[in-house]
Amino acid sequence: MSDADGMENGSEVEVVPVSLGTRGYDIRVGARVLAGAGEAIKPFANGRRVVVVCDENVADFHLDTLAASLGAAGVGGEAVVMPAGESTKSFNGLSGLLDRLFEIGIERRTLLVALGGGVIGDLVGFAAAVALRGIDFVQVPTTLLAQVDSSVGGKTGINVEAGKNLVGAFHQPRLVLADTEILESLPWREFLAGYAEVVKYGAIDDRPFFEWLEEHGPAMVKGDIDLRREAIARCCRSKARIVADDEREGGVRALLNLGHTFGHALEGAAGYDGRLLHGEAVAIGMVMAFALSRRMDLCPGQDAERLVAHLKAVGLPTRPGDVSGVHWDAADLIRRMGSDKKVKDGMLTFILARGIGDSFITQDVPAEALEAVVAEALAS
Ligand code: GLY
Repeated sequence: MSDADGMENGSEVEVVPVSLGTRGYDIRVGARVLAGAGEAIKPFANGRRVVVVCDENVADFHLDTLAASLGAAGVGGEAVVMPAGESTKSFNGLSGLLDRLFEIGIERRTLLVALGGGVIGDLVGFAAAVALRGIDFVQVPTTLLAQVDSSVGGKTGINVEAGKNLVGAFHQPRLVLADTEILESLPWREFLAGYAEVVKYGAIDDRPFFEWLEEHGPAMVKGDIDLRREAIARCCRSKARIVADDEREGGVRALLNLGHTFGHALEGAAGYDGRLLHGEAVAIGMVMAFALSRRMDLCPGQDAERLVAHLKAVGLPTRPGDVSGVHWDAADLIRRMGSDKKVKDGMLTFILARGIGDSFITQDVPAEALEAVVAEALAS
């Protein structure tokens, strides 16, 4: 599917294949892959113009670099700039984007390029899934969270009144370009929130990676570019393996939801107004999942404590009380968990752990244990 790992624009690039047969693709991870994006994208452009979609913040920082690279590779294109923010990932946002795409005159062989974080990636992926019954798209994730999670694996969609990501489609990209250098333009808090999803891969099934993060995570978050490439590529390899085993989340892919049952409830209660970012909610949610595992005598206390210690060491929140200005209510959080899309046959699905690197999926959680863990978290 592509060249092996190597140098590109003077920087090392790791290539992670996602093995999905005819829907397979490569994830290229490295500093300055954005500058080489034109040549990487050209084979998928079918000799036609591409349409790059980004939000207004990303446009200021990165659109010129991408446009110049496409131009240098002889790939012509247009850009659609959407408003920044989660509200763009909605029926209104989708309809506005589709109108623009049809004004431009897209056709079956048009290639869309999603340049942005999770909101743009999910929205553009969904537009690509439904426009003309499906066109190709490329992901160019610009946040750590999108590079290690949302841009890989083909989950696309929008939020609706009833909840986040409840309308969408599985539609795999043709290529993912993760430029580690452009993470420098991310606000620190947003970068750190993405780091929670990095820790998640260690906690799910890769204890050696968790130990690597304990050693190198603090330098990686401070900006070491080689450590960032190594960590991001490792997360992508984990995600690629899980997605290749279970593309449509019939089983093992649900492990990627570690921390998310609690996390989504916390995010919903906080009101998506910036007081609690998704990755921060996942950090607190993972701590609660490990606390529940410990309470159920599944996980040694020292592993639960080690997770908390590492999240704290890099500066992530670990308790609802770390989020300022939100009034938490235990019954409300438990009710919110019940309306999460991870409910199956009326039962809540949890990702619990027998230890760091040994997570599993279960619906077998006593209500009293859940209530006690939520009460304990709110009191801590
Ligand atoms: N973000 C979880 C997944 O892609 O399955």
